[in-house]
Amino acid sequence: MSKLHIVANRLPYSLKKEADGYELVESVGGLATGMKSVYTEYGGKWIGWSGVNSDELSPQESDAIDQKLLEKSCVTVPLSEQEILEYYEGFSNKTVWPLFHYFTQYVDYSPVNWEAYKRVNQRFADRVLEVAEDGDRVWVHDYQLLLVPEMIKSKKPNVTVGFFLHIPFPSYEVFRILPWRMELLKGMLGADLLGFHIYDYERHFLSSVRRLYGYEIAFNEIHADDRIIKADSFPMGIDYAKFKSTSASVMQKTIPERSELHKELEKYFMTSPDRRLILSIDRLDYTKGIPQRLKAFRKFMEKYPEFHGKVTLVMLAVPSRGQVEEYMMLKKEVDELVGNINGTYGNINYTPVWYFYRAMPFENLVELYNMSDVALITPLRDGMNLVAKEYVASRGNQTGVIVLSEMAGVAKEMGEAIIINPINEDEIAEALYRALTMPLDEQKQRMGYLQERIQRYSVFKWAGEFVDALENVKRIQKEFL
Ligand code: G6P
Repeated sequence: MSKLHIVANRLPYSLKKEADGYELVESVGGLATGMKSVYTEYGGKWIGWSGVNSDELSPQESDAIDQKLLEKSCVTVPLSEQEILEYYEGFSNKTVWPLFHYFTQYVDYSPVNWEAYKRVNQRFADRVLEVAEDGDRVWVHDYQLLLVPEMIKSKKPNVTVGFFLHIPFPSYEVFRILPWRMELLKGMLGADLLGFHIYDYERHFLSSVRRLYGYEIAFNEIHADDRIIKADSFPMGIDYAKFKSTSASVMQKTIPERSELHKELEKYFMTSPDRRLILSIDRLDYTKGIPQRLKAFRKFMEKYPEFHGKVTLVMLAVPSRGQVEEYMMLKKEVDELVGNINGTYGNINYTPVWYFYRAMPFENLVELYNMSDVALITPLRDGMNLVAKEYVASRGNQTGVIVLSEMAGVAKEMGEAIIINPINEDEIAEALYRALTMPLDEQKQRMGYLQERIQRYSVFKWAGEFVDALENVKRIQKEFL
């Protein structure tokens, strides 16, 4: 049977240093969950970086890690300190990431980083070429590896290559700014199928292909020089059943079994019957609109003093890319805003913003989803945003309201949320008021529709449809020849 290999910047395991070596920690991220079902089923390998700096490993340590990962069908691509700086923090996260999220003022146009990006992409491709045989399929993921599809295709044309972009593809007017726009597109066009979360990203991509390469495009088929390439949208989902069942089980726990967080949340609600929780969860990233969200919450406090002492914003910001300057500046800004709001509206018995700058265990996350009345999700740009879907899946009693940015891909699937413009503080403050005063019947009706829709298109379905579409392209290509 033809195998299916996965290529992504990160492996589905991270490494934890222990006294006697490194331990593997299984990732619970969306991609890892969805792909595990796929690559193990089709007997393939997962090719990616382990997340550690290879300069810090002895040859023995490095061999031991590779061996452990290989037992999990993972093939490592080591990255040195210099490569982390130039390829990962550099071109991936200081060039492509800000540009594709429309933060053109943050884009770094370093030719040195571009050279490193090419070199490291080639190393990923070389690892793939070692494991993939003719007739196999390879699924490449995300913006760190835009050149890999072509690097595979040019050496092994009989390997079918799929590519999925997890972030937005920007409008041509933004994409064209990049000096290396032709090379990036050429890299992506090595794929037989290109997947995007939503149609808007797909059409931006097709428009760039048409303008920069002049290829003829019929619906979503690109007629490149000698082959047909397909682009399509596949909105990524979550492991809905896992959130639903964990949510039910954490809530059924007896008092002594409950987590500290759960007990604290219960205490909070017990102090008064009209206490409410608003939840905010993201990686600490400038695309997420966290300062704007905090300012909108401050505006809400200003406008609606009747909620003082009754409403708390629980804000979980997961540390991310902390070596990149813009992320450090953002951390400072968020710390100051939280301090300002708590200083202005807090008192000895009341803290308006509970701010956690850390990752949280899965069960605690689900407790937060389950016990929060409102999910406040206001990215300035976001490819999809799975937090919104996780909140929906965790709402056992079908109450709860989502205030959601129109700039998140997920907004296309969530007409029942209260949709806002993430820069408009007044609009968000009003949306919060509306969410907090929405009658239960209306909440349940909206949440009911959302649950039905999000449950149907799980991450497994998403992965399955992409793989089916990849098979389909092969068929179309054969007919074309
Ligand atoms: C986004 C990207 C992923 C990335 C993740 C975490 O979701 O689309 O490719 O893995 O952020 O970022 P990190 O830089 O820590 O891998």
